[in-house]
Amino acid sequence: MFDRIAPRYDLLNRVLSFGRDASWRRRTVAVAGLGAGERALDVGAGTGDLARALAKAGPSGRVVALDLAPEMLARARTRADVALSFVIGSAEALPFPDALFSCVVAGFAVRNFGDLPRALGDMRRVLRPGGRAVVLELSLPPSRPIRALHFFYLRRVAPAIATVLGSSAEAYRYLPASIEAFLDPEHLAAALREAGFQRVRYERLTFGVATIHIGET
Ligand SMILES: C[S@@+](CC[C@H](N)C(=O)[O-])C[C@H]1O[C@@H](n2cnc3c(N)ncnc32)[C@H](O)[C@@H]1O
Repeated sequence: MFDRIAPRYDLLNRVLSFGRDASWRRRTVAVAGLGAGERALDVGAGTGDLARALAKAGPSGRVVALDLAPEMLARARTRADVALSFVIGSAEALPFPDALFSCVVAGFAVRNFGDLPRALGDMRRVLRPGGRAVVLELSLPPSRPIRALHFFYLRRVAPAIATVLGSSAEAYRYLPASIEAFLDPEHLAAALREAGFQRVRYERLTFGVATIHIGET
């Protein structure tokens, strides 16, 4: 599915989130706080927006972008205006030695993983002691009226916009279904703790339509 939507993926991110996705990524990068000489991994990097932002904020050449979908990574390669490494691979079996990275980020990706506990466990494995995982994910607003409006937008408006902009309505029907089926922020925090992360916390963004989780090793 992600290979299929790759050509219009960035445009739809900008349009459907009214440009908010860029500020959510900026906040994720700020929370990640990549220091000089530190290595970072972006899991489910897609077209590379988060990996690029991370590389620009920290020392260049030290960010690895990993994704299962070759077409998404191919777009990331063509858009890379900063040194990044690209790896086609699975979040559930990261092809890296233990404790290689200081920081692992995932942007709008963990909701799609086939085996979330295994992927979170592997994210923890590749982090050095004192490292941090920063997970940016779509979520449901806690306020019921805002959540109802948000669902209307995601279920009815987003697939129509996707069609008009030349993407797949089906993929953008998957979007609300996947958000609804996914863990709420409290349960995602519990999953991070179960994977062995410490000092797990989260912050809601834009009425709670997105959430950043942080876990330390
Ligand atoms: C919604 S996109 C997010 C892309 C990017 N992180 C961003 O911020 O725009 C989700 C990405 O996760 C990738 N993905 C899904 N399951 C994966 C897995 N098990 N391992 C690695 N990547 C995966 C998809 O191929 C897709 O590129």
